[in-house]
Amino acid sequence: KLSEVGLNPGDDARSTSPNLRSARWFNDHRNPEMSALYAERYLNYGLTEEELMSGKPIVGIAQSGSDLAPCNRHHLTLAKRVREGIRSAGGIAFEFPTHPIQESSRRPTATLDRNLAYLGLVELLFAYPLDGVVLLTGCDKTTPAFLMAAATVNIPAICLNVGPMLNGRLKGSAERMGSGTVLWKARDLHAAGEIDDDKLVEMISSGSPSVGHCNTMGTASTMNALAEALGMALPGSAAIPAAYRERAQVAYKTGRQIVEMVHADRKPSDIMTREAFENAIVVNSAIGGSTNAPIHLNAIAKHIGVRLDLDDWDRIGFEIPLLVNVQPAGEMLCEEYYKAGGLPAVMAELLDQGKLHAQALTCNGRTVKDNVSGQHSWDRQTIKAYSEPLKTCAGFLHMTGTLFDSAIMKTSVISDEFRKEFLEDSHDPNAFECQAVVFDGREDFIRRINDPNTAIDKRTILVMRGAGPIGYPGAAEVVNMHAPGHLLKQGVHSLPCIGDGRQSGTSGSPSILNASPEAAAGGNLALLRDGDRLRVDLNQRKVNILVSEDELKSRRDELEAQGGYAVPESQTPWQDIFRRETGQLNEGMVLNCAPKYQRVAQR
Ligand code: FES
Ligand code: MG
Repeated sequence: KLSEVGLNPGDDARSTSPNLRSARWFNDHRNPEMSALYAERYLNYGLTEEELMSGKPIVGIAQSGSDLAPCNRHHLTLAKRVREGIRSAGGIAFEFPTHPIQESSRRPTATLDRNLAYLGLVELLFAYPLDGVVLLTGCDKTTPAFLMAAATVNIPAICLNVGPMLNGRLKGSAERMGSGTVLWKARDLHAAGEIDDDKLVEMISSGSPSVGHCNTMGTASTMNALAEALGMALPGSAAIPAAYRERAQVAYKTGRQIVEMVHADRKPSDIMTREAFENAIVVNSAIGGSTNAPIHLNAIAKHIGVRLDLDDWDRIGFEIPLLVNVQPAGEMLCEEYYKAGGLPAVMAELLDQGKLHAQALTCNGRTVKDNVSGQHSWDRQTIKAYSEPLKTCAGFLHMTGTLFDSAIMKTSVISDEFRKEFLEDSHDPNAFECQAVVFDGREDFIRRINDPNTAIDKRTILVMRGAGPIGYPGAAEVVNMHAPGHLLKQGVHSLPCIGDGRQSGTSGSPSILNASPEAAAGGNLALLRDGDRLRVDLNQRKVNILVSEDELKSRRDELEAQGGYAVPESQTPWQDIFRRETGQLNEGMVLNCAPKYQRVAQR
């Protein structure tokens, strides 16, 4: 009997609730004893029957902050405002922990955990009585992991970014210190012997002065901007610094919004359409987004069932100009970017030029056009007008050829120094040939880069392999390699780099990266040797090995006789599973079995 399990048979809210997913747990008329069982442990900590069993939306808060994950730690505070927003709109909040992913300290690499956090979150959203979820995102991989999970389960979902840190400055200096970007600067100074270990720590930590994620346009700022561009976060929310009052205010508004989304049954599949992904690609170029973005965006698309590949990135994104003057591509940091108008100001420029799908639906039920139209920036130092960009062609080239099937290159970070040395001095200003020096992973690079026997001059191309998803489970961020000490002292910073690994989103290196298939998956990178010549043609989008086919064939036979390209042993069970189940970087590095599970939890 309903009365025996604490339900009031006259409660008319129940008749309005069958549409809610959570009603299958808490208001199941055919199975009242199960409803009682499901409810009792939630009543246990003080929720009332009225709150739990009268048809109010139950909204999850996917908490990614913890002491292990300092970039997202401020969410422990923000979640309170999310809760208040949910409550004020008539919902009930259920906050729960997710697998932490801290980019800067997870070994061997945080990307390994993107798919693990994804798996964990899918199970939680699928298996518990949740009608919708607020995804507390921030540090690099948390955002794509959560969007991938939201895509698979397809219950109403909205992102709340933790927000970037305040601007960094070095004591006694007016120079902006950006998290990530200062790392590359300090690393070069340290490698050239100009600063000691103590100064190295002081310099690097000066880039991280407050709560929040990286204050540069690294992978975190990029992925949260793309979440907003996709329509999965409130307009204007991504760039608000973590420490600003507006951050807590938007946390409250996000809580209110998700309750409305549950009532409207506005799901990820209604928002993350092909048009939304095309918008995100355009936005990524205009903000000077991370080279990790194609991996993650392609992965999210795969999980929601939208076709998206690297040719789309080149075709839709390459010619879009750089509008945002934030490091690493520009000078400013995220505080200026936010004050200049943040993403809506960027999207307003793109909208005027007809570069966006204006009618794409967003989480608040309005279109992209409704959200951003007319919101141009007043600060033209930080957010440029479309007609006066910082750089033209800020997107990625999709490179193919005989060294790999697929890789990307961000040409907007090519320095004048590099252009002079490699491009203008050759007879074709869009192509160059040079000799390769090949490293098998970062340890090999550290061992040999300053060894006088490693023949590197200012026309060498540095090649990194063994750094892809299988070679280094999760794919290492190691393709941006610094020049050896003797060249740094001569002022040579930008040697071209190629690799099957990734590159940090805050790096300004003109690298060809995410090469697929990686050496460990049988790619031709495994056949390359020191001294081989490579030809890179930016117009043709080709990287070719200038070694005869016969020679390559005999090298392959030799490699196969040795059992293939050697990779280090897995260190944990997850590394083992990951290596067996992962796809390559060009396809988003997703678990092979995952995309077939779609819309698993929608009502
Ligand atoms: Fe977490 Fe950069 S290390 S956002
Ligand atoms: Mg990174």
